[in-house]
Amino acid sequence: MINTVNDIKTVAIIGAGTMGLGIAQICAMSGFKTILFDIEKDSLSKAEKAIIGNLDKGIEKGKVSEEDKAKALDLISYTSDIKSVIADFIIEAIVENLDVKRKVFLQLEALNADHTILASNTSSIPITKIASVLTKPERMVGMHFFNPAHIMKLVEVISGAATDNNTTELTVKLAEKLNKTPVRAQDSPGFIVNRVARHFYVESLKVLEEGVTEVEGLDRLMETSGFRMGPFKLMDLIGVDTNYSVTESMFRAFHEDPKFRPNRIQEQKVNAGHHGRKSGRGFYNYE
Ligand code: NAI
Repeated sequence: MINTVNDIKTVAIIGAGTMGLGIAQICAMSGFKTILFDIEKDSLSKAEKAIIGNLDKGIEKGKVSEEDKAKALDLISYTSDIKSVIADFIIEAIVENLDVKRKVFLQLEALNADHTILASNTSSIPITKIASVLTKPERMVGMHFFNPAHIMKLVEVISGAATDNNTTELTVKLAEKLNKTPVRAQDSPGFIVNRVARHFYVESLKVLEEGVTEVEGLDRLMETSGFRMGPFKLMDLIGVDTNYSVTESMFRAFHEDPKFRPNRIQEQKVNAGHHGRKSGRGFYNYE
């Protein structure tokens, strides 16, 4: 039974990609026994390397000690066997696809105890829709981290139509324990940040499509005017494929409102496998 956040001992992260590895890192650094699961063994080994790299960077900057690193690494286990994903709190960070997420949550619900909270890091898919196939949708919640997850403070905590209060409040407390700043949101496509930020990407792609300026020019302009990263650098960091799936999903959710229309330039990059930093090439070349 999970009454308070202190009853949460084991956290499992589903998906060891861009987001999953950072979420696993902060869970372990906050003292939780952490299981990182992925269907791809290659993703798991890349994630392990990236976590060690992040911790080493933290040591260089004087933010992490050698002891913190050793303790965190000791708490993380890596697996591609879903049967070993037994935890008090599960955070899913796999592809932005409703059917795939539902299938994984159904498996996780069947494997885990009644008290286990099921959270999705989805950027845009309504929590209510994912939860509707579950036996206990009241235990499902949105827990939306930002990239890079081990650095960015904000976490949106999203209540679906069936999410009970206890689930939402425990998720807020867990986010605080992970040293994050939780903000509650109701279940609406793209929640808060992605709904507002979508125009940053969509409009920038339109500007590119119309030949008004080039990738580097627009990025430089936005950075000079105060943005930390221009839209194309940011899409490369997020993952061009993930960013595209989020736009597609929001376009559908808002009944094909043209202001969310996905752009063919981005679609072509996805088809070419130019997914940004993680694939070595996106709007920029990282090879
Ligand atoms: P990614 O493409 O970097 O990683 C996804 C991982 O999930 C891969 O390692 C893949 O092997 C694994 N996977 C795919 N299907 C699976 C399955 N059925 N079971 C287990 N593992 C599976 O994706 P990323 O960018 O980490 O996104 C994951 C989720 O987080 C998406 O829902 C996305 O919308 C959300 N998100 C992404 C952000 C970003 O900046 N990339 C920011 C916030 C949320």
